[in-house]
Amino acid sequence: MSKRVKKAVIPAAGLGTRLLPATKTIPKEMLPIVSKPSIQYIVEEAVAAGIEDILIVTGRMKTSMEDYFDYTPALESRLRREGKSETADMLRRTADLASVHYIRQKEPKGLGHAIWCARRFIGNEPFAVLLGDDIMKSEVPVTAQLIAAEREYGGSVVGVKQVAAEQIGKYCSLDVEPMTGNLMRVRSLIEKPRPEQVMSLYAILGRYVLQPEIFDVLENLPAGYGGEIQLTDGINAICGTSGVLACDFKGRRYDTGNIYGYLETVIDFALEDEETSDWLKAFLKQKTAQF
Ligand code: UTP
Repeated sequence: MSKRVKKAVIPAAGLGTRLLPATKTIPKEMLPIVSKPSIQYIVEEAVAAGIEDILIVTGRMKTSMEDYFDYTPALESRLRREGKSETADMLRRTADLASVHYIRQKEPKGLGHAIWCARRFIGNEPFAVLLGDDIMKSEVPVTAQLIAAEREYGGSVVGVKQVAAEQIGKYCSLDVEPMTGNLMRVRSLIEKPRPEQVMSLYAILGRYVLQPEIFDVLENLPAGYGGEIQLTDGINAICGTSGVLACDFKGRRYDTGNIYGYLETVIDFALEDEETSDWLKAFLKQKTAQF
């Protein structure tokens, strides 16, 4: 039986060009989804899936993420002096959520390269990957669903869903064969397929459990689509060795990395938030009456 998945990597070193100018100085992972930055939802999912150590791959202009998971003694004591101990306690809990580590990807050479930067932190064990701009809403954490599949069948596991035919070219396309339940065996995959290269509408949506052999593959991988080292190409290379499963996970994925996805996420989360829900419903009703 393989080792337990205890570590996760959150690649968050991308430039976030689709959300400029906001992301010129604010990492997109720090943009608020109601009252929490998106990185917090990702860290919470990892913790809920039993992950003990998290490595965030960061880059220049991303230091606010490190500050976010640190203590803020001056702010906390001021809040306590003002009788706002609950807020101070909440800040403490956020900083204590997980054991978070950081490494810099010195150049944004692609997702595959960002993962390769984690090789010394991970060592020789399977690990989870949670993309910094994909938030999941699910009963069982999506990362936990992937870990359960890895535990049962071994190999690597990618979280997939079918996307619209006109969208698949923005993702990767997987050639899959059914296995059992919501699991499929992956024969191959291709990043940003042209229409004639599409093998199915199944695409990976931001969650992975990978075996450490991926690091040797990534080390020698030539640049792929867009001149970047593509994680998809690395995973394609291990389909025939230790094997890759696709898990059609139960849950909904929110892509916060583009303006429409970001707005959708904020509105949906605010509609479900106890504090904002009633107010937002009334506001939207009033607004839609004007359209
Ligand atoms: P994206 O392509 O969605 O992120 O990468 P991006 O490059 O920041 O976005 P745009 O296209 O410029 O708007 C998917 C994930 O991989 C990380 C990103 O931070 C994101 O979580 N990534 C990407 C890295 O960590 N390093 C890279 O070199 C590229």
